[in-house]
Amino acid sequence: MTSHVRYGIIGVGAVSDFHHVPGIRLDPRSSLTAICDPNEALLAQRSSEWGPVRAYTDYRQLAADPNVDAVIIATPNFVHREQALECVRNGKHVMCEKPLGLNFQESAEMYRAARDAGVRHMTAFTYRFAPSMRYVRHLVKSGALGTPRHFRSQRFLDLPETSWGWRQIKKLAGAGDLFDMTIHRIDFAQDLLGPIRSICGAVAQFVPRDRTADGKPCPPSEVDDWSSLIGFFESGAVGVWEGSTLMKGHNNSGVGYEWAEVNCSEGSAAYQLTDPNTIVLARNGRDFEKLPVPAEFLVAPGSPRDPSQGKPSTVFRYDLVYELTSAILEGRDAVPGFHDGASAQAIADAVLVSFEERRWVDVQSNPE
Ligand SMILES: NC(=O)c1ccc[n+]([C@@H]2O[C@H](COP(=O)([O-])OP(=O)(O)OC[C@H]3O[C@@H](n4cnc5c(N)ncnc54)[C@H](O)[C@@H]3O)[C@@H](O)[C@H]2O)c1
Repeated sequence: MTSHVRYGIIGVGAVSDFHHVPGIRLDPRSSLTAICDPNEALLAQRSSEWGPVRAYTDYRQLAADPNVDAVIIATPNFVHREQALECVRNGKHVMCEKPLGLNFQESAEMYRAARDAGVRHMTAFTYRFAPSMRYVRHLVKSGALGTPRHFRSQRFLDLPETSWGWRQIKKLAGAGDLFDMTIHRIDFAQDLLGPIRSICGAVAQFVPRDRTADGKPCPPSEVDDWSSLIGFFESGAVGVWEGSTLMKGHNNSGVGYEWAEVNCSEGSAAYQLTDPNTIVLARNGRDFEKLPVPAEFLVAPGSPRDPSQGKPSTVFRYDLVYELTSAILEGRDAVPGFHDGASAQAIADAVLVSFEERRWVDVQSNPE
């Protein structure tokens, strides 16, 4: 039985550098052997920063590389589907960034292809790995807070109003804040409270974003700057979600503001990205208290990561690769899988339909 996973990365931009490569390096059971990007200057830079690695400009070559066991896809959203399908065809295990595809149909196809090929598959829903999120999940699933009744999530950042690059072109990104930010919160809400069955959504664009960061004119944004939904879970619980990257004052050294709470019949619990090693907890009739997350929830079980090292709002992200490596070596499904990616996407798609048609939408989010 194999004891090591050799990774290839397609798309060597921001997120690969931020947490995928540190995640691979942290675990002695994994190594980076190949990278791919059409941007040759960046490819050369990453080869020298991350090397030694084989470097490709065509993802098909990386997908066919016999020295690669698993591939991380961290490219613009419109190529996720074709790249994931090619990796799966070549028998590679795959972690794909969110949103999994441009819509539910693409994501469901990716899920079914990976399932039928028998490879391990994972959607990079990062925030599931935050220590306080893991502890909130434990409290909810163990029944410690009683019956869940209500979920609320707010994700605000104070980012520049200039161009978002490929992220503001509809055919490359699919949607704006909704697919970039709110989709994570849809995912962790479903993880905590079960499937969402019915939603009413709205999106808005605040600014044209028709200038690049260095002041050059560019085509204006075609996507949302703000996304929101209210919804009912299958369980009968209700949820409220809101997100935007244009909320003045919510910079917080680039981390922004994030609050997600679950209100249950016996108490409430909240997660905050700015302080992910603590939880905000209240029992019936008592005020909220900020408490440390117990040690066993600070890292994924067995992870070699030392939770006292590094910036707390960054380092939990390294546990994503640890989860995929563990799933491959243990012969089990990775969590969250492509199934979860497709399911969250069905809800996000429904937000756009709901707003366009000004109506509630019932969602069938099972990609089987
Ligand atoms: N999970 C998270 O928390 C998180 C955070 C940031 C970004 N993301 C997701 O990661 C993906 C990448 O985002 P990013 O911020 O790193 O973007 P980025 O623009 O910094 O990097 C994307 C890279 O992909 C390369 N690329 C473009 N087309 C390609 C192709 N056909 N084949 C190979 N490479 C190609 C680009 O040259 C670029 O280097 C997006 O899907 C985004 O939604 C997820």
